[in-house]
Amino acid sequence: MPDLFSPFTLKDVTLRNRIAMSPMTMYGSVDGRMDDYHVMYLGARAAGGFGLVFPEQVAITPDGRTTTSCAGIWDDDQIAGHARVTAMIKRFGAVPGIQLGHTGRKGSEVPPHQETNAQGSWKALPPDHPDGWQTVGPSAIPAGGDHSFPVHELTVGEIKALHRSYADAARRAADAGYEWLELHFAHGYLAASFFSPLANQRTDAYGGSNRNRARFLLEALDAVREVWPEHLPLTMRLGSDDFHPAGTQFEDSLEAIGWMADHGLDLADLSMGGNTDEMVDPHFFNEPAGFVSRAARVRREVGIPVATSWNLGVPQTADAVISQELIDVAMIGRPALSNPHWPVWAARELGHAAPFDLLPADWRWWLANFRGHAPSIGLPPVAAGVRAAAATLPADADLSLTA
Ligand SMILES: Cc1cc2nc3c(=O)[nH]c(=O)nc-3n(C[C@H](O)[C@H](O)[C@H](O)COP(=O)(O)O)c2cc1C
Repeated sequence: MPDLFSPFTLKDVTLRNRIAMSPMTMYGSVDGRMDDYHVMYLGARAAGGFGLVFPEQVAITPDGRTTTSCAGIWDDDQIAGHARVTAMIKRFGAVPGIQLGHTGRKGSEVPPHQETNAQGSWKALPPDHPDGWQTVGPSAIPAGGDHSFPVHELTVGEIKALHRSYADAARRAADAGYEWLELHFAHGYLAASFFSPLANQRTDAYGGSNRNRARFLLEALDAVREVWPEHLPLTMRLGSDDFHPAGTQFEDSLEAIGWMADHGLDLADLSMGGNTDEMVDPHFFNEPAGFVSRAARVRREVGIPVATSWNLGVPQTADAVISQELIDVAMIGRPALSNPHWPVWAARELGHAAPFDLLPADWRWWLANFRGHAPSIGLPPVAAGVRAAAATLPADADLSLTA
């Protein structure tokens, strides 16, 4: 039976444990480039014991970013910055992953720490603003919320060009040394919006039936599969449920993931659709292991490995969903921001004999061997409040069977 710290092999890549730093947009780029900032914080998570480290969603085109401060890989000149990041991640024993995406209707924003809208949420910029641009989507339907500016409906020719951009970005990602590629098909961004009937009201081959709404995603997958090395994992994060009666339905997602598996998908990372702010009972936001039941259904019914995020930050919770074989990889988001050594802390909490083995060898030696007052080393005494938090998982929860 695996646990959170068991190695995980997919294609020719072996993660030292089942803990991934989930992709998180960082607003730290100039002209889409990775620089010292990215080397610093991503290297720190690799040194902190994560098995797989993702930077943020990396844009395949300039207008595929969230803000003008976000990272991209649309130009060969950007490869060098990414290569510094991948070298640092590998140096500390983790596998570098990249999440490729296009923000579609939800681009052209201001970084939220700089400015929000009147509701305290993401602020969108109009196309004529110096830091804004014309957003695109499957149909000319704004995303809602602050994204009220007109959306350009993509032509078939523009869709084909975007698929070439996915492939070009994937080729650059391989050149930069990434060893795991996730396509971002979630969170209301371009691919997720093609998949959702809320955003996609096309009447051509890219709209209508589930097969047609999945076409943009399948063609992106095919384009990347052609250039991404066969021996490396190719995965995707799917916006698998809009939590809205007129949006993406989970049953449709199950069917589409089956098609993707036939097209060479190696693992599915399950997340929310994100195509509307008017979700009905989006319980996953607040529940421990909020998306695990859906991921487990994909694992069981489609038969491919799965990952998911959303409230796995209590070590006992993450460990339980791995050891119950509900998911294969735990995507850790906000906890990775608050604690670069989350895996070391988790290993201590879970009673592993040598949690410091996850750290670089010299740190490990000092922490294991230097005399001193044990509670003063910078990690809380084991079980300080964590077990109580784990108990908030309903005792009778059957995570594998709920839809
Ligand atoms: C600051 C921040 C930026 C994020 N950016 C991305 C992103 O670029 N791509 C993505 O798929 N998810 C993104 N997410 C979502 C996380 O990857 C993760 O799915 C979510 O935070 C839930 O996991 P958690 O409960 O461990 O935080 C972001 C989350 C945060 C907090």
